[in-house]
Amino acid sequence: MMMLPGSLLVIVFILVPDFVLLHNCPSPCKCIYTTVYCNMTGITNVPSDLPKNIETLYIGNNPIKFVAKSAFVGLIKLAWLDFSGNNFKESSIEKGALDIPSLRVLDLTHNSFITIPQELPPNLIRIYFYYNPITTLKATSFVNHSTIQFLYLDNMQLNKIEDHAFDPLVNAVEIDFAFNKLVDGSFGPMTFVKNQKLINLGFRFNNLKTIPDTSHFQVSLYSLDFVGNKIKVIPAYAFRTLTNITSMAFWQGEINDIEKMHLWFE
Ligand SMILES: *[C@@H]1O[C@H](CO)[C@@H](O)[C@H](O)[C@H]1NC(C)=O
Ligand SMILES: *[C@@H]1O[C@H](CO)[C@@H](O)[C@H](O)[C@H]1NC(C)=O
Ligand SMILES: *[C@@H]1O[C@H](CO)[C@@H](O)[C@H](O)[C@H]1NC(C)=O
Repeated sequence: MMMLPGSLLVIVFILVPDFVLLHNCPSPCKCIYTTVYCNMTGITNVPSDLPKNIETLYIGNNPIKFVAKSAFVGLIKLAWLDFSGNNFKESSIEKGALDIPSLRVLDLTHNSFITIPQELPPNLIRIYFYYNPITTLKATSFVNHSTIQFLYLDNMQLNKIEDHAFDPLVNAVEIDFAFNKLVDGSFGPMTFVKNQKLINLGFRFNNLKTIPDTSHFQVSLYSLDFVGNKIKVIPAYAFRTLTNITSMAFWQGEINDIEKMHLWFE
């Protein structure tokens, strides 16, 4: 009997901020609870009157040209920001504009960045960069971004990963390079040496002709994906240090020889 009033009280406290939010929705956006949808509304600026308790913001596919440093000030709960398809380039986002302390997920897909912007906010966990014309990951690209766990770099023009580019990503769990232009020699053998939590690594649809040297990949890896490359031979012991691998994919490739691992079987 004592439970009922307590539960009711909790419900009231949870619902009140949401109703307040709905009343404060900036036009022409739509608001549902703490999610605000401003995507594809034609707006040319980030609305200055976004509700303070917003947690998720979709603001992609708009002709927004510039994001000022003050754009998100005071939005202390904003955790998910989808800025896809705005034709942004390096100068489109003022330095510090995305320094939203609570931001964990950032979607910058379908933009025009040619480098990973140095203005990435701190504390990100997940970042999407699909469809940006980025050719090179620089040694400094992810400096100070040790919190990133999921890094999606698909469908870019990537053909070079500088040494040490991934060294800061000590918490990375998944890195995906599908549909890029990586060839043998686009990255060195020490590229993933610091990623001790890496579980999934994907090279789907690149132009690799040989299996990269995996001897410095971390034993944390569970899954390696080489689908759609030009690898012809899987050499004996190509993965000898990767004792935890449970999934490896090579389909739509050109494999015609898998060398025997004599020492293991004799
Ligand atoms: C805005 O984005 C959300 C989430 O991706 C999507 O469900 C919705 O259809 C989009 N709205 C418009 C008008 O494109
Ligand atoms: C990384 O953080 C340090 C300390 O806060 C700072 O001095 C340095 O400029 C940062 N480097 C980059 C590339 O942001
Ligand atoms: C390898 O797999 C085992 C069993 O799943 C797991 O306990 C161990 O932590 C894994 N090792 C690494 C380095 O991730």
